[in-house]
Parts: sequence; structure tokens; C-alpha cells
Amino acid sequence: MRVLVTGGAGYIGSHCALLLKERGHEVWVLDNLTNGHPKALESFLPADRLIVADLGDTHRVEHALLANRIEAVLHFAAFALVGESVVRPDKYWNNNVVGTISLLTAMRHAGVGKMVFSSTAAVYGEPTVVPIPEDHPKSPCNPYGRTKLVMEEALADHAAAFGLGATVLRYFNAAGCDPQGRLGEDHAPETHLIPLAIRAVVDPSKPFQIFGADWPTPDGTCVRDLIHVTDLAEAHLLALERMEAGKVNRYNLGNGEGHSVRQVLDAVGRASGKPVPANVAPRRPGDPAVLVADSSKARAELGWKPKYPDIDSIVGSAWNWLSRHPRGYKT
Ligand SMILES: NC(=O)c1ccc[n+]([C@@H]2O[C@H](COP(=O)([O-])OP(=O)(O)OC[C@H]3O[C@@H](n4cnc5c(N)ncnc54)[C@H](O)[C@@H]3O)[C@@H](O)[C@H]2O)c1
Repeated sequence: MRVLVTGGAGYIGSHCALLLKERGHEVWVLDNLTNGHPKALESFLPADRLIVADLGDTHRVEHALLANRIEAVLHFAAFALVGESVVRPDKYWNNNVVGTISLLTAMRHAGVGKMVFSSTAAVYGEPTVVPIPEDHPKSPCNPYGRTKLVMEEALADHAAAFGLGATVLRYFNAAGCDPQGRLGEDHAPETHLIPLAIRAVVDPSKPFQIFGADWPTPDGTCVRDLIHVTDLAEAHLLALERMEAGKVNRYNLGNGEGHSVRQVLDAVGRASGKPVPANVAPRRPGDPAVLVADSSKARAELGWKPKYPDIDSIVGSAWNWLSRHPRGYKT
């Protein structure tokens, strides 16, 4: 297939672009490089296949789709910092929602009828049932989650009115790096658990902050469902094969097993051979105690099966890249 990956210079998009390429698809990346890294793509994507453009530039995106005869779009491009979304909701609604509507318009004009959309566990808010199934009530507790939920609804409206075929993938905690060490995780600012724990090992003057050790969980720290980024990428390839015109399918992507923050720090300690320096800080408002996915629908309908489900493979792959690239793609 001829596939456009929006946000493909970012963390998850670059891993997905690499897997698409390896499986023989024709790949283009569209990214405005606000948070992306062209260096991530250098080893496998010809330079003229990185289209530096903004989702909001409808005409430019439409031209890119037509000129390259794109058949499907994997849509990763978004802002994704929960805390920032609370203080700058305008930035999130504009980039994520207005940007996605612009992309959908460009796709419609160019006759591209397939999209895989990056959604998130944040659409559920505080869970009432764990593991969380797809039909769990949606009650996002921050603007980031609300923008993702409203985009899911926009896709359903476009499917009904224009015959779009879309697959919504709700990721739980994306983690790890390419198992062969070719790609990594480099967000600025970094807010993700494993990279922050690794940074604390590399620079013990900046200890890891545990936000609350008094949660109703076995060791008092929050429990999260970590899913390897390459397993997420695999789900996108499976989703591409099973797209139905005029329909939106929604799937949770997680391992179905929770790990506490302390268990993750222990795994970073095993990978690095050094304990992670850590302090306990107050709880952050809006953090659910436990977030674990029920991904049985993706397993049954897409035939998806994570290849790297265990915590030591996930953390080991992250340690492998991040310890060699302490300044991310700048090193
Ligand atoms: N990382 C996670 O744990 C996680 C969990 C759930 C959902 N998601 C979703 O997955 C997607 C990818 O996340 P990530 O961690 O790889 O983020 P990332 O910031 O590494 O990648 C996003 C990319 O999109 C680009 N981008 C942003 N706005 C754009 C625009 N208007 N036009 C063109 N390019 C634009 C950025 O430059 C960046 O390269 C996001 O949609 C995010 O909401 C991520």
C-alpha cells in the first residue's frame, strides 16, 4: 500500500513508518517537525519522502496525497501532553481537532478513504471497571483526552456521511524502543515513565518523582499497562488490512497486565544494573490509580498478539537506546 504517516517523525509514528517499510509498503511521512526528529527517519526513508508540512495546510496535504497516490493515512500527528493541555486548551483544540478536520477534508478531496487514528486510554477518564473494555463510559478528565474523543466522533460522522473507513486505536502507555536499537523515544519535555527513570539513573542529581505512594494499589504507587511501541506499530499494519468503508472500528491496545511505578523502577534497575534514585512527591490530580486495558477485541478481530509483553523486554529496549543517546536524537 501507499501510506502517508502523519507525525511520522515522532516517537510512535517513526516506529510505525519503519515497520511499514520493512513489510514492503510505500511510505511517506508528513510532519511539521514541531516535536519530530528527521534524524529518526534518515536510515530508512528517502529524504524526498519526508513532507515538512502542517496538518492545517489543507491544500498542501491534499497535494501530497494526490501527487503520491496515497491509499491510506496513519494519523499520529497531535500534541499529547496532558498537563500542557490543561493550561493551553486552545493549542490542543486547534492543533488536534482543527488539524484533523483539515486532514479529513484533504483526504476527501483527494479520494483517500482509509485512516488509522491514534487515540488514547485518556478518553475513558477515571475507570469504573478494570481491565477497561472499549464500551466503558467515556469521561476524559483533561482537554487532551477530550480532543481525542471528539476526533473519534468526527471520524464516525465522516464514515457515515462520506464512506470513510477508519480504525481507532486507543493506546495505553506506549513504551520501549525499536528492539534492534535503530529508533528511540525523544520527547521534549519528557513526561513518560521509563525515559524519566532512565534519566535519573544516568544523572542521579535529578531523581525520579513518584507521584503518590498512597494509592489503593499493592505497593501504593499507580499501576499502568505498558505496551511496546513495536507491538503498537504491528497493530497499525493489521488495522490497515481490515479497514471497512463507511465504518469505524475501535480497539484498545495494551498488554492487559498492570505494572506499578515501583515495579517499573525495579525493571529499570535490572536493565541498568543500578537502582533508580527516586523521591515520593504528592499525587497529581486527575491521575487514575490503575489503568489496564482489556485488549481482547484487538486480539480476536485483528489477530493482534504483542511480541514484547514482558516488562524486562520493554524496559531493556528503552535502556538500550536511551543509555546510548542521553540527549535523544541530538546524540
Ligand atoms: N506516547 C504515548 O504513550 C501515547 C499514548 C496514547 C496516545 N498517543 C498518541 O499517539 C500519537 C503519537 O504520539 P507520540 O508519543 O509519538 O508523540 P510525538 O510528539 O513523538 O509525535 C507526534 C508528531 O506529530 C507532529 N505534529 C504535531 N502536530 C502536527 C501538525 N499540526 N502537523 C504536522 N505534524 C504535527 C510532531 O512534530 C511529532 O513529530 C499522538 O497522537 C498521541 O496523542 C501517544
